Amino acid sequence: MFKRTHTCGELRKEHIGESVSLNGWVNTVRLHGQVIFIDLRDRYGKTQIVFNSEDYDGDFDTIKKLSMEDVLSIKGKVQSRGENAVNPDMPTGEIEVIVEAMELLSETAPLPFVITNRDSALEDLRLKYRYLELRTDELQHNIITRHKTYQAVRSYLSDQDFVEIETPILMKSTPEGARDFLVPSRLHNGKFYALPQSPQIYKQILMLSGFDRYFQIVKCFRDEDFRADRQPEFTQIDIEMSFVDEEDIFTNMEGMTRHVFKEVIGEDLPDPFPRLTYAEAMSKYGSDKPDMRFELFLQDVKEFTDKSDFNAFKSAECVKAIIVSDGAKYSRKIIDELTEFVKTYKAKGLAWMKTENGQLTGGISKFFDDSLQKEIIKSSGMNDGDIIFLIGDERSIVEPALGALRVEIARREGLTDPNMYKPVWVTSFPMFKFDEKEKRFMAMHHPFTAPRVEDIDKLESDPAAVLSRGYDLTLNGHEIAGGSIRIHSPDIQKKAFSLLGLSLDEAEEKFGFLVEALTYGAPPHGGIAFGFDRLVMLLTGSNNIRDVIAFPKTTSALSLMDGSPDTVSKEQLDELGILFKKKK
Ligand code: AMO
Repeated sequence: MFKRTHTCGELRKEHIGESVSLNGWVNTVRLHGQVIFIDLRDRYGKTQIVFNSEDYDGDFDTIKKLSMEDVLSIKGKVQSRGENAVNPDMPTGEIEVIVEAMELLSETAPLPFVITNRDSALEDLRLKYRYLELRTDELQHNIITRHKTYQAVRSYLSDQDFVEIETPILMKSTPEGARDFLVPSRLHNGKFYALPQSPQIYKQILMLSGFDRYFQIVKCFRDEDFRADRQPEFTQIDIEMSFVDEEDIFTNMEGMTRHVFKEVIGEDLPDPFPRLTYAEAMSKYGSDKPDMRFELFLQDVKEFTDKSDFNAFKSAECVKAIIVSDGAKYSRKIIDELTEFVKTYKAKGLAWMKTENGQLTGGISKFFDDSLQKEIIKSSGMNDGDIIFLIGDERSIVEPALGALRVEIARREGLTDPNMYKPVWVTSFPMFKFDEKEKRFMAMHHPFTAPRVEDIDKLESDPAAVLSRGYDLTLNGHEIAGGSIRIHSPDIQKKAFSLLGLSLDEAEEKFGFLVEALTYGAPPHGGIAFGFDRLVMLLTGSNNIRDVIAFPKTTSALSLMDGSPDTVSKEQLDELGILFKKKK
């Protein structure tokens, strides 16, 4: 091998005349009779190398047989490309290397897909050969952006006196929200560790130990249903601070987020970030992670539908609408598609009307008399050529369904500028949500979140009305971080457990160590965790969380490259004392 003197992204005009050695993969081969052009690639870029049968000392027939992804080591001279041959799209595009000697370091087997074109293969095949897919420009860029993000986060937090502390990966199973991944213990047969859903309890305990400002970039594990922005194992930037309130957390975390966006992609985020309460976000955007990049708001139209002859909405708790400017162009087929779309969010249907010559037409317009039509057009700000979509039902159905429709319409109409970043804090969440299936309250955030001081009395009398000190940071419709000021009083913590349906014994068994720790001098504390993968998704403009993780799982939690999960030997099971029974 000729040890490389330069990378494949390095050579420029000023190197013309130099003798160099390059190592890399064959990206493309072009045969021109007695001249062969190859783009040689490594992670720094590509350089055109030229085999000219007259200059090349070795066997020219071997060169003719080279194929994409063979690994080469070459020695040669840098020369200027002819004026017509300059490639302005390549940083190395003004030069080429005339090869004098070549060593074939490694010959590739026939490739399962074309590396230069990710779309040439289905995702499952690409995941099986992930090491090949990772060679593509897009994934190389994503992984390097991920690396830059780690560094920007670490340097910012360390400069602000945060201490990086690792917490255990094998821990006690606690009912925190999602399902745990369990690990059987060999030494303690019949007992299990759980993989952490997050280091929540450990980081709170670190505050009790006096570590004041903690952070960790940490793997978390949740056995839940997966979507485009969820993985069974994912990474958090986990943070906790003592002697703080919400304002301290917001200031520090805005600082970190602004620093990361500036360092990694040169983007200036607003200072300060805007805020919405949960109630405002739901009411105006129909989502607790509103995409603020486009102005399309939910409007309350119940006052008008109540005055109309459209009876279906009369008994509805809530009737809301969105107006799509220029939406009168929507055909019956598109409206049917959108109706099916909102049905997946439990809406029973999607009512609509279009505006034409200052009047409403089509859909349910015949149930609105002339003056009511004028009223609704004026009050909602409709113009000719617009369409209004209405849903009437329980508020808990209307708002999310219209919120999802809002995002779907923005997608269809191209309203979401991919180069615009609109962070917003969402605050004042309800403390609990009632789970109809289990007939009990569940923590909206997690069981350690503090109630608002003014709502503590309501914990007993009206838990459903209690608001929490939880907050989320959302960006362009993604929840990128969530956290809260915590309960630091053992009594309130016990009360929260009992409202969540944990008996004293259960609470003692699962969380006794935390409640006990709180009795030994607990500082008021709070924190947050950023979804690191989601942050990198936004920084790279990716739509899929798998595109920013080197070795991701499929939506059904499989690793197609190494074939996990997999069966294990009988000996391994025997050691653990595990015997399988048929799953019900
Ligand atoms: P939470 O559960 O809100 O809070 O998680 C914090 C952030 O982690 C990201 N996230 C995920 N990313 C990818 N795949 C998943 N399956 C997944 N689940 C969550 C989201 C989310 O905002 N311990 C608390 C934090 C705290 O209170 O300090 C916690 O884990 O971006």
